[in-house]
Amino acid sequence: MELSKDDLTSLPLYLKSNLEEEIFLKCFENQLPVMLKGPTGCGKSQFVEYMACKLGRPLIKVACNEDTNAADLLGRFIIKNNDTVWQDGPVVRAIKESAIIYFDEIAESREDVIVALHPLTDHRREVYLDKINKVVKASEKFMVVASFNPGYQSGLREMKPSTRQRFVTIAMDYLNEKNEAVLLSSLTGISSSEAQALVKLAKMIRTSENFDLSASVSTRLIIHTAMLMKAGISSRRAAHVSIAEALTDDRQIASALMDLIDLSL
Ligand SMILES: Nc1ncnc2c1ncn2[C@@H]1O[C@H](COP(=O)(O)OP(=O)(O)OP(=O)(O)O)[C@@H](O)[C@H]1O
Ligand SMILES: [Mg+2]
Repeated sequence: MELSKDDLTSLPLYLKSNLEEEIFLKCFENQLPVMLKGPTGCGKSQFVEYMACKLGRPLIKVACNEDTNAADLLGRFIIKNNDTVWQDGPVVRAIKESAIIYFDEIAESREDVIVALHPLTDHRREVYLDKINKVVKASEKFMVVASFNPGYQSGLREMKPSTRQRFVTIAMDYLNEKNEAVLLSSLTGISSSEAQALVKLAKMIRTSENFDLSASVSTRLIIHTAMLMKAGISSRRAAHVSIAEALTDDRQIASALMDLIDLSL
């Protein structure tokens, strides 16, 4: 596919860290589903937005949770003007529009819901709607993408190998220091030295073993800090509320994080 200059400039901003774009493209061309795994706020959703735009496909997002059932995804009968009519769910809409469907936090879904999607994520590329006895087949431009965060609630919800092995899995992580600082200053307008100091602080917290945190400083958190700084809040105050308080409710750990912030910024 050829992209014009206008198309390129309207792409969502995404900085590559590895071969993720090339692998995603090859998966699209070969009708393989993709799983993005990586910590919260490392750019998984942004990457999918960017790829959908680049491939010229509509993007349909489904936030998965334990209450999601197969009918929520595939469709159900609803009452409309005193009539009972069939309403397609997001999966069927995505198939019909040859869209990219993005199952965010797929591991949160119940196993029976994921298994109902198995025929869609292997060579069959179809779903069976038992309520209306219909099979809906996907075109070659339809694609399934899913994400999960391996650290979060790990052990609670392990996906079955029969699910995991249907997906090509791209491991994602935070950008390297240089690129993360470039991203911060281009997104928020803070100076490059301010951006570098924030990224350095994030790296110290990410690699330190002194803080017992269930999740570390994401790119999202330092973007929030930079936005507050740009809005006129002092860098320390901004980092206290958007990094330290967002990472922990334990007063001792929060105060240790704030000490580190005060030393670094
Ligand atoms: N490589 C990157 N290029 C562009 N933006 C990025 C990148 N990495 C992170 N970001 C930015 O960081 C923020 C968080 O990214 P995003 O929402 O994509 O994270 P995520 O991995 O989907 O997180 P979650 O698991 O919580 O859904 C967004 O503002 C996004 O633009
Ligand atoms: Mg996301």
